[in-house]
Amino acid sequence: MAKSKTYIIANWKMNPLSLREAKKLFTGIKKVGNKARNVQTVVCPPALFIPELQKQVTGHRVLIGGQDAFAERAGAFTGQVSAAQLKKNGAQYVILGHSERRALGETYEEINKKIKAALKEKLIPIVCVGEHKRDEGGAYLRVIEDQLKEAVAGISEKDLGRIVIAYEPIWAISSNKKAKADSPEDTEETVLYIRKVLASVTSRKQAMSIPVLYGGSTNPQNAEGFLARGGVQGLLVGSASLNAKSFGEMIEIADGV
Ligand code: PGA
Repeated sequence: MAKSKTYIIANWKMNPLSLREAKKLFTGIKKVGNKARNVQTVVCPPALFIPELQKQVTGHRVLIGGQDAFAERAGAFTGQVSAAQLKKNGAQYVILGHSERRALGETYEEINKKIKAALKEKLIPIVCVGEHKRDEGGAYLRVIEDQLKEAVAGISEKDLGRIVIAYEPIWAISSNKKAKADSPEDTEETVLYIRKVLASVTSRKQAMSIPVLYGGSTNPQNAEGFLARGGVQGLLVGSASLNAKSFGEMIEIADGV
């Protein structure tokens, strides 16, 4: 069986400030990404840069994604960007339910609607889950279970085959003061749990084949550990994706694992 690709996904968040900088960063990432046969690189810039960056896409190894998409298709929703708009302007993927959006009040009920809308537009949703705190007793696993179940409620088995899950413990995301990456060993355990939860809502085979990524303070130093021992099929990268050299290194590491 052919080994499936490793995902290395850049979440640029609200960066950079100008289109000029965005193009420069994207060009740098593309140079490495286009050579990495075993990696699916996805760059998720702020939505306003998508149409321009899309013009620079060549081939399928480096693609573009959004960072959020509203559940309605079009209409009177000031300030929102829809999945249909992302798709029509060059995105193939979309991050949904990122903890930074949940911190602004987004619920998993809303995230569920957004996932369904994205699937309808043939975008691949990258669905984020992750706990605020890790406790010895394992209560955090229940938190992840609830998030996951709410996120995928009512989604058909066929559609579930098109989603990607990103496990991002909130305490590990680099913008948090005391952030520290999870260990590959603990990530592996959580990923197993995520697969168990998925198996309770879809077939075992499907649950085993949905890509699960890790995100939270990843960098060229720890990428290999997660990819080799964390039980994940890729990484969702925040701050390190704003540096073409660091992010390129991570792509090369993934290509070699
Ligand atoms: P980080 O961000 O890599 O800067 O920790 C990850 C994310 O928030 O997706």
